[in-house]
Amino acid sequence: MSAITTVDDREALADRLLTASARHYYDPATEIDWTQPPVPGLPYMPFEHVSLYGTQLWDQLTEEQRIELSKHEIASGMSVGLWFELVLMQLLARYVYDLDPRSAHAQYALTELGDETRHSIMFARTADTLGVPRYGPPRLTHEITRLAKMALGGPSMFAAILVAEETTDRMQRAMMDDENIQPLIRAVNRIHVIEEARHVRFAREEVERRMSGMNFASRELHRWVTAVVSYLIIDSLIDPKVYAAVGIDPRVGRAAALSNPYHQASRRWMAERITKFLRGQGLIGGPTTVIWRRAHLI
Ligand SMILES: [Fe+2]
Ligand SMILES: [Fe+2]
Repeated sequence: MSAITTVDDREALADRLLTASARHYYDPATEIDWTQPPVPGLPYMPFEHVSLYGTQLWDQLTEEQRIELSKHEIASGMSVGLWFELVLMQLLARYVYDLDPRSAHAQYALTELGDETRHSIMFARTADTLGVPRYGPPRLTHEITRLAKMALGGPSMFAAILVAEETTDRMQRAMMDDENIQPLIRAVNRIHVIEEARHVRFAREEVERRMSGMNFASRELHRWVTAVVSYLIIDSLIDPKVYAAVGIDPRVGRAAALSNPYHQASRRWMAERITKFLRGQGLIGGPTTVIWRRAHLI
């Protein structure tokens, strides 16, 4: 039996998270210098995590083109992150609908919703400042999500939230103190990492609470939902249109990225912490393991 199954424990965690939220709260409109020009010669994300790194296509790019591609890929990641945050805000609002608003647990869920609205504005403003096209998930994913988000709930909802939050968190943590990355990206990442740490704590404990004592059929169902949603999220992070920014056909660029062992390793690295946790919770296992492998998440 998990040590955190009682309402008291849930309230105690929410109280701590509310205190931390009041102490470390960032308004990107005033915290970030949006007028600073980019530093010439600095990439927007580490080259080794750019999807084409190590491929023949990469070898053919000039240094300027590599920096340009790094800009478009990080902007795509933020734009898809924004899309997921919009979904998350709707899930959180629906979640609170059934809770007692006097509880710290409900109030923390609302606080998280507030954090995500600021993050989404921050990501939107970053894309605008970088001057990139509108990036997002594939059209079909966008449309399926319109309906799917109404059905999501329980541990797989929190697990899907964690996959989105923890994979991007791993990348952002690696960049936030790296002097070789554009200062604007570092500043955005730093705010996001600090505030997301609380969200991860909240969602992880909900997964633990909901998975303890779950029967076989429910566990299988939540395994499938978690695997499919995680696949869609990770596979959407790079909008193939980014490749056009450096003169590469989007279909050619996407195919090269998907078969690139460096990119596959980068995905596994991003997912390392969260997949370990989900395995421990029984949410990765059995036939669904194939989906996680195909997504290069394990
Ligand atoms: Fe966020
Ligand atoms: Fe979050």
